[in-house]
Amino acid sequence: MNNPSGQGGSGEPSFAAPLSPGRGAGPALEAPPAKPKSDPAAPPQPEPAPPEARAGQPPPRVLVVEDDEGMRHFLGECFSRRSYDVDSVPSGEEAIERFRRLSYDVVVTDYRLTGMNGLDLTRLVKAVDLDTVVVIITAFADLSVADRAIQEGVTDYILKPFNANQLYFVIERSLRFRRLTREHRDLKSLVDTRTTFGSLVGCSLPMKDLYNLVERVSASEATVLVAGESGTGKELIARELHTRSRRKEGPFLAINCAALPETLLESELFGYEPGAFTGAEKRKLGLFERARGGTLFLDEVGEMTAAMQAKLLRALQEREVQRLGGGEPVKIDVRLVAATNRDLKEEVFAKGGFRKDLYYRLAVVPITVPPLRERREDIPLLASHFLQHHARRNQKEVAEISVDAMVLLSYYAWPGNVRELENLVERLVTLARGRVIGVDDLPEEIRGLAHKGGAAVEADVSLSLKEAKQDFERRYMEQLLRRVRGNVSEAARSAQVDRPYFYKKIKKYRIEPDSFRNG
Ligand SMILES: Nc1ncnc2c1ncn2[C@@H]1O[C@H](COP(=O)(O)OP(=O)(O)OP(=O)(O)O)[C@@H](O)[C@H]1O
Ligand SMILES: [Mg+2]
Repeated sequence: MNNPSGQGGSGEPSFAAPLSPGRGAGPALEAPPAKPKSDPAAPPQPEPAPPEARAGQPPPRVLVVEDDEGMRHFLGECFSRRSYDVDSVPSGEEAIERFRRLSYDVVVTDYRLTGMNGLDLTRLVKAVDLDTVVVIITAFADLSVADRAIQEGVTDYILKPFNANQLYFVIERSLRFRRLTREHRDLKSLVDTRTTFGSLVGCSLPMKDLYNLVERVSASEATVLVAGESGTGKELIARELHTRSRRKEGPFLAINCAALPETLLESELFGYEPGAFTGAEKRKLGLFERARGGTLFLDEVGEMTAAMQAKLLRALQEREVQRLGGGEPVKIDVRLVAATNRDLKEEVFAKGGFRKDLYYRLAVVPITVPPLRERREDIPLLASHFLQHHARRNQKEVAEISVDAMVLLSYYAWPGNVRELENLVERLVTLARGRVIGVDDLPEEIRGLAHKGGAAVEADVSLSLKEAKQDFERRYMEQLLRRVRGNVSEAARSAQVDRPYFYKKIKKYRIEPDSFRNG
């Protein structure tokens, strides 16, 4: 049974997997020689048909990570025979390089890789895409690790030795699990009637997804990187993560890394001893120490200089900090949340302006906040929320925004996102003379949208052509659905496309027809 090399004329299919050879334990086992597909001795025939669940779907994209050549070839062969779309790499480093450029449904990795183990790789993969299926191949000796790995986000594991069918079984089961999880999440978001989440306001599907993610993540200690354009609510989210965590009784301290020169930022973060530099008279504790038991929020972390990035990385790796001017190292006990309005991933991989290792430390869980123009359903809700808030604060009797004015607010592109909307509403409330804010009260750039008529909206030239087309398509569909009060069949008829096509599009844009029922 234990015929790891899969050779030697035992009658076993040559697809019996080899044990990983030459990693110290046990005698070095020979990897199977590469088997060309045409090898008549290789009994498994190409699988007749893809599993039923995949009918009509593209084949799963699999990335095999295995430093043992024989095993890598074997896995590649298994997946090709099953018509999976497979790539293989020999190291975790290369896997990550490839993974951030291309998208994969599944990563199959040996637990023991040179340079990093399967768990390290899992963390890196999950930092790029939380939904990727990761399957670890492990020897019996590492079984306890495999159990822990599952808790850390690994989808499943395969115990060596195994054969091709066992491999397919685990991968298909993992993919089915992912599909069901996604469906479940979509359904949950659809029936989720929340319009607020702590201090966050919003009822669009992307916001509901975000609420769910924040809920899932806040229970953990994982470092979170919140990315999004300016004014999308990144700081609110950081606070929400804190309030919902075990650390809620502890402090929430924030620092804006862009606002301070390097030396000041360093002494703010790490503190100093008397005499550390001219003017340092008394000991000062840094934010890492002061935030003990709580959360430290590093805003605009993408603006840190290379030297500061290195210091922050060291602190995170060692889990301790040292005050400037000496002193004993102090253990860190903070949960870190960082925010950026730059595309840090792009800077890490394309431009190299931000350290990759630090990026992975910070983005253990990445959260992306969509810009307001991608969740226009939230605009009326947010506008009304700010109206009430500022009317109360200013003790004014402004009660509502007229329907026409609200429609125009929904058309506008909001380059400054929620902050811009809030500032505008505050100004409108302050200047309002009556109970209702109408079209005439709006600033010219928004009022002007009325003359463009129908679906035409100011083009947002900061977008790529592809994004702009998608932006238009989304708005067209939303507007149409608004007109037909969420009736998809009628909307499809009016757009002169068939219903399944229309339905596919609204799913793509995560538009919820029901949200147009009443308005
Ligand atoms: N979903 C929301 N619900 C209610 N208020 C919001 C929401 N999002 C943002 N805001 C408000 O908009 C303003 C900007 O939010 P915040 O400071 O969190 O944005 P940010 O993403 O950190 O922006 P920047 O990148 O410019 O620092 C704040 O006044 C905040 O209260
Ligand atoms: Mg901010």
